[in-house]
Parts: sequence; structure tokens; C-alpha cells
Amino acid sequence: MENQTHITVPVNLGDRSYDILVGHGILDAFGQAFVGRELGNSVAIVTNPTVAALYLDRVQNSLEAEGVRVTVVTMPDGEAYKTLETAGEIYGELIRAGLDRAACVVTLGGGVVGDTAGFVAATYLRGIHFVQGPTTLEAQVDASVGGKTAVDHPLGKNMIGAFHQPRLVYIDTETLFSLPAREVSAGMAEVIKHGLIRDPELVSFLEEYLEAAVRLEIEPDRLDWLIAQNCRIKARVVEADETEEGLREILNYGHTVGHAVEAVSGFDCKHGEAVCLGMLAAGKIALDKGMWGQADFDRQEALLFKLGIWRGVEDLRVNDILEWMGRDKKVRDGVIRFVLPERIGHLVSCDTVTRCEMGAGIQYMQTCSAKGR
Ligand code: NAD
Ligand code: GLY
Repeated sequence: MENQTHITVPVNLGDRSYDILVGHGILDAFGQAFVGRELGNSVAIVTNPTVAALYLDRVQNSLEAEGVRVTVVTMPDGEAYKTLETAGEIYGELIRAGLDRAACVVTLGGGVVGDTAGFVAATYLRGIHFVQGPTTLEAQVDASVGGKTAVDHPLGKNMIGAFHQPRLVYIDTETLFSLPAREVSAGMAEVIKHGLIRDPELVSFLEEYLEAAVRLEIEPDRLDWLIAQNCRIKARVVEADETEEGLREILNYGHTVGHAVEAVSGFDCKHGEAVCLGMLAAGKIALDKGMWGQADFDRQEALLFKLGIWRGVEDLRVNDILEWMGRDKKVRDGVIRFVLPERIGHLVSCDTVTRCEMGAGIQYMQTCSAKGR
């Protein structure tokens, strides 16, 4: 990493600790950051054709320049391929390449590649090391950190998975500039989420800079800080509760309704867009329950509206959404659980939301969606 500036965010998890490195223009130094971390000298880079065309050469060359043997595995692009079938195909490539337990998986792409390849790393030969190379905003601020790996099942999102921490997360914020605007805006929903759950100062920052940030019109150092700050927030929660026995649930703010919207829309609605809609619904439920005040509710709404709300949720059937919610991983003993805000920066888990309150939250979300972008 000579001559490269980056921010290091440590994730302290005992013998599963690792660093998150964040900088702009650091992709060519990937190999340098990789070596010296006892990750072997044989890697499988798992990516997809979209990201491969943009960034694979730089990552592969930098690893090979350090004497690392590279096998490239390409999976199809899209949430529809975050499946056991795709995982099975990746296992096949790893076996054919003769990769043993000393090998390391390197993910290069968004959350779909990261979750799928992370799951492969968690299960191949009962678990090998992996490194996250996230290239979407969603993956840089959320999916690559914390060790949740999974594939979807036709009956539910992320239903098959494992906790498996990466050994390094390597973030070049310049990769964000090739993202379609819609992807940046979807990822920014997770940034807002992190502010709402843990960091009132980040919320104030976003109230000033969100419009510029969503257009990526902020200075490179400030963008690096924004990504690193989100990683810090998530890392601190994961350090306190790695396997979601309690506190980590707050990271699921907006997910109870969001995951259902994502699935019922046939994944037309992107994950971040669904989280944005889910936070609108959860915010309304908390308001109706008297858990938080109108002023905080209005601040959340104003921020989320700046992202542009996904249009289409008004066409989805409320009963379909409710049915999917009933199958979510967060359901315990048949009770649908919500993460709800008490104030900006403080959320709690709640299992006393009535069907009527859920309906009102979903209806409000549909009204927001009808107003749309
Ligand atoms: P994605 O991985 O589908 O990426 C979005 C699109 O952007 C894809 O077409 C991809 O090929 C393309 N792309 C990626 N990087 C690019 C770049 N730099 N330039 C141009 N195009 C690029 O979607 P996502 O939003 O990154 O991730 C969503 C997934 O992440 C969901 O499956 C969600 O469940 C998961 N997720 C997981 C966690 C976790 O903790 N594990 C957290 C949040 C989300
Ligand atoms: N995205 C939720 C979590 O990592 O716990």
C-alpha cells in the first residue's frame, strides 16, 4: 500500500478480527494489501460479467504481481442468481481449479456476488478464507461488513446462509462512479439507515450533503469518510453482537416490510429501495404507536424522499406483502418482529405490532410510492 492513502476501520472479533480499508484509487494496490495477511498464495476471484469488464484486470494484475495464483470464476449478474444452484457451479469451478483449504475466495462486485461467494467460502471444504472487494455503495457500506453470507430460496430471501467473517474488506470508492444512479440512490438508503439507528451526527451531515452525495458530487476524501463512517457504525454493532442474538437486529431496520416488498415485486425493487420503503412503513408504525415523535418522523421522511421512492409498491397486494413478512427469518414463534425507532439514533426491537398497525404502515408506504420519484 505504498504511496496510497486509505482509512483503516478495524473490526474487533478476537481471532476473527479484520481490517476494512477504504480509499479512492486504491484498486491497483489490492495485491499489496492482500499479501502479508496469511491468506495463502492461491485465490479464486468471484465476480460477474458487468464488474469483470470494469475492474477484474486491475485486481487480477495486482494479485499476480505479488506472485498470487488467480483463478477467475464468473457468476451471472442479478439477484435471481443468488442461489444454491449458482453456489453449486462455483464449488465446481473451485474443485476443477484444484483449490484446497489454503486457498482464499476474493469477491469482486456488489452484494449479490459478496453474499453468494461469501457463502461458498463459508461452506467449501467446511470453510476457507475470503476477502470482500465490494464495488456498489450497498456492498461498501453494508453487505461486505459483518460476515452474513447467504443465498436466496424460492420461498424466502437469504434463507440459506452462514456467519463467516471476511479476512479483509477492500474498498475503492472510485468504483462507485461507474454505478448507475439508481444503484447509488438505493445504497444511500443504507447510509441513512445507519444514521437513523446509531448516529444522529451522520443524520445531520446527510441533511446537509445528501443531494450532493447521491450524485457523488462530494470531495473524494469526504466520500471515503462517509463510507468508512458507515463501516464503523456497522462494525461496532457487529462487534457487540456478531450472530444477532440481540443488538444486531437494529441493522434490520426497514427489513421486515422491505424484504417482503423486494420478493413480492419479483426483485424489480432493489434491496436498498425496499429498505427505504420499509423504513417509511416502520417509521409510520412507530409514530402510530407513539414510540417516536412527529419531528423525528418528518426528518426521516424528508431524507428518504430525497432518494426518490421506488414506484410500484402501490400495485402490490397488501396480503402478499403480509404473507411474505410471516415467513421472514425475523419471525420468532410465529410473531413478526419489527425494529422501530424511539428517536433518531436509538431503535428497539418490537414484537407487539398488530396486523392493523402493519396494514397502516404498508398503506402509508404505498401512498409514498404512489407519489414516487
Ligand atoms: P448487486 O450486487 O446486484 O449490484 C447491483 C448492480 O450493479 C449489478 O448489476 C452489478 O453487476 C452492478 N455493479 C456492481 N458494481 C458496479 C460498479 N462499480 N459499476 C457498475 N456496475 C456495478 O446489488 P447490491 O445492491 O450491491 O446488493 C444487494 C444484495 O446485497 C442483496 O442480495 C442483499 O440481500 C444483499 N445484502 C447483504 C447484506 C449482508 O449483510 N450480507 C447487507 C445488505 C444487503
Ligand atoms: N444487513 C444486516 C446485518 O448485517 O446484520
